[in-house]
Amino acid sequence: MNPEIPILETKHLEKSYWVGRSRLPVLKGLDIEIKAGEIVAIIGPSGVGKSTLLHLLGALDRPSRGKVLIQGVDIFRYNDEQLAIFRNRTVGFVFQFHHLLPEFTALENIAMPALMARVPQKQAYRKAMELLNEVGLWQRAHHRPAELSGGEQQRVAVARALMNNPRLLLADEPSGNLDQRSSNALHRLIWHLSRTRNQTFIVVTHNLQLAEQADRVIELSDGRIKNNILNGV
Ligand SMILES: Nc1ncnc2c1ncn2[C@@H]1O[C@H](COP(=O)(O)OP(=O)(O)O)[C@@H](O)[C@H]1O
Ligand SMILES: [Mg+2]
Repeated sequence: MNPEIPILETKHLEKSYWVGRSRLPVLKGLDIEIKAGEIVAIIGPSGVGKSTLLHLLGALDRPSRGKVLIQGVDIFRYNDEQLAIFRNRTVGFVFQFHHLLPEFTALENIAMPALMARVPQKQAYRKAMELLNEVGLWQRAHHRPAELSGGEQQRVAVARALMNNPRLLLADEPSGNLDQRSSNALHRLIWHLSRTRNQTFIVVTHNLQLAEQADRVIELSDGRIKNNILNGV
């Protein structure tokens, strides 16, 4: 892969929501270019559209106008079924709240994306166990989400996001509901795992200290990019 080709580009990306009969413009034309392996922090006030942007980058929602190119491919030309396959193979998502399936164990939740991609069960569970190890939870393999602490639930969610070796890891305030210490530990863990996998990692955070450690910080304001800063340059 040519590292000079951006892994991710947006071209005049717009998103509006319809609320009743009125249109609420949220993203008003974003042009972003992110290189493979970059760690990018997205910051901005609550309600500015950070989650909306991340959902578009991860193909969880479609834009009103504009494009998202992943490795040069315009992903919204895909139909919904193709888009689901693309998401499963290429994108790992960690949400603010874990979104784990309550009736499945930690191990089963982590293995799910691989099972959906038709990886044989034995192989999927072996890989899920390795990931449980990496997030420090091998003793929790057979616990259900309700039997885990908030920090542990998020670590399981991180392991699940990594299951299919996504090129792109997206995290939306992944530690938003944790205390400061668990929050910092979770961030360190995700950053470490993402770096060692040479993934492109985009994280929405309101922790400015963390944002400063990213390669790039994109600040949103009033639906546009207010700042796009390369750190350490
Ligand atoms: N599904 C939706 N329908 C209507 N409005 C929405 C929807 N999702 C988000 N919004 C609105 O869009 C704006 C941006 O939301 P969001 O992307 O969640 O912001 P942030 O993550 O930066 O806090 C907010 O004003 C929010 O109320
Ligand atoms: Mg949000």
